[in-house]
Amino acid sequence: MNRGGSLGVELDSAAVALGETRQRTLALIADFGSDTLEAVHSKLMSPLVWDLGHIAAFEDLWISRAIEGPMLRADLVDIYDADETPRAKRGDLPFLKTSEALDYLEQVQARTLSLLESDGARMNPDLVELVIRHEQQHNETMLQTLQLAHLNSPFGDRLERFQADVTLSEPAGLNFVEIDAAAVPIGADPEAGFAYDNERPRHVVEVGPFKIGRTPVTNAAWLEFIERGGYERSEWWSPEGWAWRTAERASAPLTWTPDGRQWRLGELRAIDPAEPVIHVSWFEADAFARSHGVRLPTEFEWELAASWDPIAELKVTPEAGVVSPLGVQGMIGNVWEWTSTTFDGYPGFVAYPYSEYSEQFFGDRYRVLRGGSCASRPLIATATFRNWDLPERRQIFSGLRLASDI
Ligand code: AVJ
Ligand code: FE
Repeated sequence: MNRGGSLGVELDSAAVALGETRQRTLALIADFGSDTLEAVHSKLMSPLVWDLGHIAAFEDLWISRAIEGPMLRADLVDIYDADETPRAKRGDLPFLKTSEALDYLEQVQARTLSLLESDGARMNPDLVELVIRHEQQHNETMLQTLQLAHLNSPFGDRLERFQADVTLSEPAGLNFVEIDAAAVPIGADPEAGFAYDNERPRHVVEVGPFKIGRTPVTNAAWLEFIERGGYERSEWWSPEGWAWRTAERASAPLTWTPDGRQWRLGELRAIDPAEPVIHVSWFEADAFARSHGVRLPTEFEWELAASWDPIAELKVTPEAGVVSPLGVQGMIGNVWEWTSTTFDGYPGFVAYPYSEYSEQFFGDRYRVLRGGSCASRPLIATATFRNWDLPERRQIFSGLRLASDI
């Protein structure tokens, strides 16, 4: 039986996935000394060494739970509990310093591997997969920190892949695909193995008819938005968005410089007009859509466009690929795409494995992002994965795609 689901592996292959993931975590920080790893580079982000200790503590906790046994370092739970200690305060904590964090990572993983050998059969495979995915998601968080700090990383070649699998035949991102109304299953396929609690249960939603952008909105279209006075015309912004842009003095995406270049990790490069715009907030995305007389897609419209095959009347999972069955391009693994939907549980939601994972963020503050970014690992970049962040945030690798009623 394969309960390891999306990994597509039996538990014994979990060792391979754990090792491969860890290799990337270590590659990501290989070039930095402890001063860089322990520094607070941005109020929005933890020091990189906090992520390292937190990755180890999360593995320690959930692998212990998977065998219903004790943790190696129960004393570290509070320090690495993301909910107890907001990111802005993490610089002041007595968290493990670089060499201790690296030791802890190694010790915890050695224990995981030996437990998989000896007790694999009685371990809950969902918890093992959760641990692997958690580390992968923190790799993306760490890349956000590097991006904000203008630090290079050998892992940055993943960002080079940015856009490589999309042919932006319509560079502006302002052309639409019309989609008929449909009743579509939304959420993770219960047969497909691992899914986050917030992707469940799968349920049918009536969507459309609507139009959705064939491609993400590009830098060319964003430049034009700026030239049309996008950041000066309050009528295009929601009241909250206008207050944000005023306080933030936003006048371009986060990584753009006044001389017309864009940061990618430690490098300044010319802005490529054909690439999707990246590092925009929900407020900016919303204003851009309004400036074109349209709106952002709902997360259900997005999921339909990514994964519904109207001919076969089925949902194709998990990845929509380069072009979805409906002809929509570049939805997976390029930029996180803001949707108009606030983050909430699907009808019948049950928290798993703990309510702090998703449930504490439900409500009207967080907006859902879909699709995964150039910094996401493939396990996360699927048609049903739901990311979420606050509407003012733009350190994430976020862009947008337009939509409209028909
Ligand atoms: C799904 C990306 C919003 O980073 O807060 C990491 C993933 N949860 N550790 C986040 C997560 C716990 C989460 N996001
Ligand atoms: Fe975490």
